[in-house]
Amino acid sequence: MTGQNTRTGKVAVFADREAATRHLADWLLQEALAKKDGPFSIALSGGSTPQLLYSMMASEPYASRFPWARMEFFLGDDRFLAHDHEDSNSGMLQRLLFSRVPVPAENVHLIPTAGTAEDAAKEYDAELKKFYGADTLQPGKPLFDVNLLGLGSDGHTASLFPGQPVLKEHTAWVSTCVPPVAPYTRLTMTYPAIDASRHVVFLVEGASKRETVAKVRAQDPACPASAITAMGDLTWVLDRDAAPADV
Ligand code: 6PG
Repeated sequence: MTGQNTRTGKVAVFADREAATRHLADWLLQEALAKKDGPFSIALSGGSTPQLLYSMMASEPYASRFPWARMEFFLGDDRFLAHDHEDSNSGMLQRLLFSRVPVPAENVHLIPTAGTAEDAAKEYDAELKKFYGADTLQPGKPLFDVNLLGLGSDGHTASLFPGQPVLKEHTAWVSTCVPPVAPYTRLTMTYPAIDASRHVVFLVEGASKRETVAKVRAQDPACPASAITAMGDLTWVLDRDAAPADV
């Protein structure tokens, strides 16, 4: 596995949101069908950008072709909210995808909401380690086949926000973050957990993100997303508006 980063990662640019999203749906389907040894594990991002993808996956020709019984779904991050709250990523994914496809309930790992945010982070950390089958990440053994990430215009990804203590967390796989710039306490995967992915895919759309894409590809340290690496390959899936002039 090559171990790409945000600078060396491949960039795929599409005319518009629909085309970028359809490309990603096709690629995910191909990867899921090609995986023969064990479950196909995928961590999904929240926010608005990937919602078209989730709706697409729950529609034909994808809904009847994904090997749902062999897929394991996790979330890269979430707001620490009840799942029926309109801003819950877990709730959004339940509505747009998981409630509409025949994925076994035990294969859907939503972010817990019981107790404190710290309790929930510990619980989700333990759930990841149970799935992985070890408490420490082993070189060459990915935790996820695919980690789908978004990008905030301030350079955050998952809920790894600028200047937050979670950026220095290199032991826990899940931690909390209380970003001053965004609402709600968050639970987020940490760098070690995200980096333990065979494929990392940034899905980014819209002109408001173009400058940030350029900064993160140049590995600007002010952008937390700049430090993301993949065990295998990293790919930027961009619509034309989000693509910097040099790609
Ligand atoms: C979240 C996300 C976050 C998101 C970016 C981009 O919970 O909000 O996981 O990292 O990907 O904020 O959000 P948009 O796609 O809405 O621009």
